[in-house]
Amino acid sequence: METRRNFIKKSAVVSAALCLPVSLTSESRAAYPDLKTRHPQKVLILWYSQTGQTYRYARLIGCILKGKNLKVDEREIQEVDKRILPDYDLIIVGTPVFYYDTPSNISDWLEKIPAIKGTPVAAFVAFGGPEGNQHNASCHILKILASKGGVPVGRDAFRNIPSYPTPEWNTSQQISGRHLPNAATFDQVRRFAADILERISRGETISISYEIALREGLRALPLVWLNKKAVNKHSVDAAKCIACGTCVRKCPTKAIDPFKRVVNRDKCLVCFGCLNNCPADAVIMEYSGRRLYGFREYLKRNNITIMEPEEFKTCT
Ligand SMILES: Cc1cc2nc3c(=O)[nH]c(=O)nc-3n(C[C@H](O)[C@H](O)[C@H](O)COP(=O)(O)O)c2cc1C
Ligand code: SF4
Ligand code: SF4
Repeated sequence: METRRNFIKKSAVVSAALCLPVSLTSESRAAYPDLKTRHPQKVLILWYSQTGQTYRYARLIGCILKGKNLKVDEREIQEVDKRILPDYDLIIVGTPVFYYDTPSNISDWLEKIPAIKGTPVAAFVAFGGPEGNQHNASCHILKILASKGGVPVGRDAFRNIPSYPTPEWNTSQQISGRHLPNAATFDQVRRFAADILERISRGETISISYEIALREGLRALPLVWLNKKAVNKHSVDAAKCIACGTCVRKCPTKAIDPFKRVVNRDKCLVCFGCLNNCPADAVIMEYSGRRLYGFREYLKRNNITIMEPEEFKTCT
């Protein structure tokens, strides 16, 4: 009988093979409804962010649009009452890429929004490495928004330090992305915001063009399940926990209870939000028998300060 270790090893080999950067493009330009305005006044930026990177981009986009005299609401997506969406002239959604896709809690949320017929919509993702399927993950967001009547006017992906924890934090992606975001990343974000307004003013839309990449096949694998199997320990260290509640706030499924020191493994999405955000290194997670430490702890141990854009000094 196959051992669990062999099974996980084989899955990793299949995953690596599927990661080969073969890509074609598949375009789908559906017949979108007419744009409801060419002069948006009220913008909603919905963001989901576990380690702060997507939030940083959402804030910067907000600053750029406020600088153009638009009224901007930036909201954490899961805190928003979905009924407000049709009140906006432009909706921008930003998420990280998790497991080669939009985080499942966010795609589930978006699937339940009301009709937004004719509303210009744009999507961006924060991602950790070049072969992370970031392009298709952002198309996935647009596809859901378009299915509700939204009209795609922008899409982009911004690379930064990957927050997927490994025991040594020394994978090639973690090393090569360590200095990101940088000035060029922030310029890319500024262009993204400006291009959206330009496009809307010209009445232009964009197509949702998926890359037909072999790594797209990874989404068909039960990645969350495989990772859950590989995480052989997940609990809270009573001696270190300072009862701050951060892990509870960050957990999308309310799977962790630091006061009882338990994690409901059935509910857990293996997003590492608890581990990555714990300020006391009190979340215990072992991956294939090796202890992990989180993103905050990684930044602290390596004395890394993430760059902030200039706009944050003046924009509120
Ligand atoms: C559970 C998990 C899975 C991830 N999967 C991917 C991935 O498939 N592709 C990728 O490019 N980055 C991946 N990453 C890296 C994140 O997309 C990246 O660090 C992102 O900037 C995190 O955004 P946030 O700080 O807003 O949470 C993953 C990170 C985590 C924690
Ligand atoms: S308990 Fe699981 S789902 Fe909740 S934050 Fe931790 S890793 Fe994510
Ligand atoms: S984030 Fe860490 S310190 Fe805070 S309650 Fe959770 S386990 Fe305890």
